[in-house]
Amino acid sequence: MKNVVILGSTGSIGKNTLEVLSNFADRFSVLGLSANTNIRLLEEQIKRFRPKMAVVTDEESFQRFPQNYDTEILWGMDGLKRLASHPEVDLVINALVGSVGLLPSLETVKSGKNLAIANKESLVMAGELLIGKAKEKGREVLPIDSEHSAIQQCLLSGKKEEVGRLILTASGGPFLRKSREELKQITVKEALSHPIWEMGKKITIDSATLMNKGLEVIEAHWLFGIPSDRIEVMIHPQSIIHSMVEFVDGSVIAQMSLPNMKLPIQYALLYPQRVFSNNTSLDLTKTGQLTFLEPDTEKFPCLGLAYKALEMGGTAPAVLNAANEVAVEAFLACGIGFTDIQKIVQKTLKQHQVKLNPQLDDILNADKWARQTAKELCCESEIKR
Ligand SMILES: NC(=O)c1ccc[n+]([C@@H]2O[C@H](COP(=O)([O-])OP(=O)(O)OC[C@H]3O[C@@H](n4cnc5c(N)ncnc54)[C@H](OP(=O)(O)O)[C@@H]3O)[C@@H](O)[C@H]2O)c1
Repeated sequence: MKNVVILGSTGSIGKNTLEVLSNFADRFSVLGLSANTNIRLLEEQIKRFRPKMAVVTDEESFQRFPQNYDTEILWGMDGLKRLASHPEVDLVINALVGSVGLLPSLETVKSGKNLAIANKESLVMAGELLIGKAKEKGREVLPIDSEHSAIQQCLLSGKKEEVGRLILTASGGPFLRKSREELKQITVKEALSHPIWEMGKKITIDSATLMNKGLEVIEAHWLFGIPSDRIEVMIHPQSIIHSMVEFVDGSVIAQMSLPNMKLPIQYALLYPQRVFSNNTSLDLTKTGQLTFLEPDTEKFPCLGLAYKALEMGGTAPAVLNAANEVAVEAFLACGIGFTDIQKIVQKTLKQHQVKLNPQLDDILNADKWARQTAKELCCESEIKR
């Protein structure tokens, strides 16, 4: 039996993870859960999975949360860190959204636990520190993102030195065929309707701007140790091929399945084993045509900005991430337009003085600075509208 903790159990990945875990109740025991504000769902999860501990991060929600369970209820970031480092825990699944995931990810690897990571923001902000610490402790950082899970599976076909390039596929989001002019008028409702995946709000907006793919390029760089000039992005609207690896002899290995996050979650939970699942099997005679095209980085500059941040190195990816989080939040609150997101990220990145070889404090300071700068830029955009 493995004891697992799910940070962000009330989110899209968190809920899918609990469903996968319930298919393997003979192998896993849920030791801890966490929510921010959705305490109604957390209560249901506590009743069903009876974890030893649960965390409510939002203070007001914590105060309202009933304390009449056998489950110990903890609060805030300290609670998340305690859960991640609990001595009985074997595997932590980080399904939190945003930069709040960084400290729990670091706490997990520092305490010598395996980490299954959906929270790509941790790797974007501090990939070098996180992977470095996991290696030092002899622990795994297992991807949950479908693209990175696909790459991990494709990489089994050869040695690291035989890898030519990684090809991350992207659905292209809901606005693939819109003109630049049309993008300026996009509403929050339109941006939240993804053609393929049902996900949390932040990643859905990131998918629409292609920032999600940019964050994934950075994530792939740290997870697989491949330089950015050998990580490419290809638009594949049907989302059947989840990513590919080209080896030096020209052979391309692709991982295919119907788009469903339960498969990459199961792969991460059971890695390196493959176990029967009742996921719908892929019938290529029924998927229709599979198509591929190059991303339009002029129409979707966020992808290029992510490559640029990775090239700048040091604290730049943390700044890209923080500015993007602030801009996406402002867009969701109808404060700025859809195309303002990229402008705010670009301007924030331009004003940043990169600190190379950053320690955790440098990264947290850069995150704080970028948030302040991006907020000021959002106010300017708001005034202009
Ligand atoms: N969804 C997908 O299909 C998918 C695919 C690949 C990768 N990912 C990545 O997985 C991560 C989670 O995505 P998601 O779509 O599952 O997000 P989501 O549905 O918005 O869920 C986020 C989770 O984090 C919690 N949370 C939000 N703000 C928090 C805060 N300030 N402090 C502590 N907890 C907080 C939420 O709690 P409450 O609900 O209680 O507020 C919820 O449990 C992201 O990094 C995303 O990029 C997602």
